[in-house]
Amino acid sequence: MTAIDDTSWTASRPGAAPAEVSPAELREAMGHFATGVTVITSVDASGEPVGTTANAVTSLSLDPPLVLVCFDLTSATLTAIRGHGAFAVNVLGYRQRHLSANFARRGLSAAWDGVTHHRGPTGSPRLADVIAVIECTVEQAFPGGDHEIILGRVRHIETNGAGATPLLFWRGRYASLEGQIPA
Ligand SMILES: Cc1cc2nc3c(=O)[nH]c(=O)nc-3n(C[C@H](O)[C@H](O)[C@H](O)COP(=O)(O)O)c2cc1C
Repeated sequence: MTAIDDTSWTASRPGAAPAEVSPAELREAMGHFATGVTVITSVDASGEPVGTTANAVTSLSLDPPLVLVCFDLTSATLTAIRGHGAFAVNVLGYRQRHLSANFARRGLSAAWDGVTHHRGPTGSPRLADVIAVIECTVEQAFPGGDHEIILGRVRHIETNGAGATPLLFWRGRYASLEGQIPA
């Protein structure tokens, strides 16, 4: 008789208790899912611009137009979005890769030094030269473990993709359509 590996048997049965994976293992596995890179911007309680780099961004519904973004519960940008009730998804091109590193720094107002932007109709900052901007108001928020899922109702869009190259993120590194970008 062949012995059954308890873990793999449990994991493959629908409804059975899932096998546990560590945060590091999940991060490593999900890193194989290549994504684009965005900067989510909003306005804090003092009216100052805030922003964070995010790749947990998904198109959800066309009618009504909805997107969702997942934020770490400790994100200062999440706190600002809850207050302002609106945010903008700024989709980065390869040429804006420095902005990804810039806005991955926690809650630094200095992140805005030298970053050209203007306020869109919802008040959220639109970064100059990005390949698309999707401006949203907050429709709903849902708990999601150590993250919060913000559902955005799309109010305004702008695209500048012609001739542009998107910035990609894959296995913890930046990449372009041509290949991996040296760190
Ligand atoms: C490529 C990349 C993607 C990221 N995606 C997310 C994300 O989807 N959600 C999130 O909460 N943080 C994400 N982060 C981490 C935040 O950008 C980082 O924690 C930032 O310091 C949070 O800033 P804040 O606290 O000012 O909002 C990402 C970072 C990088 C470099």
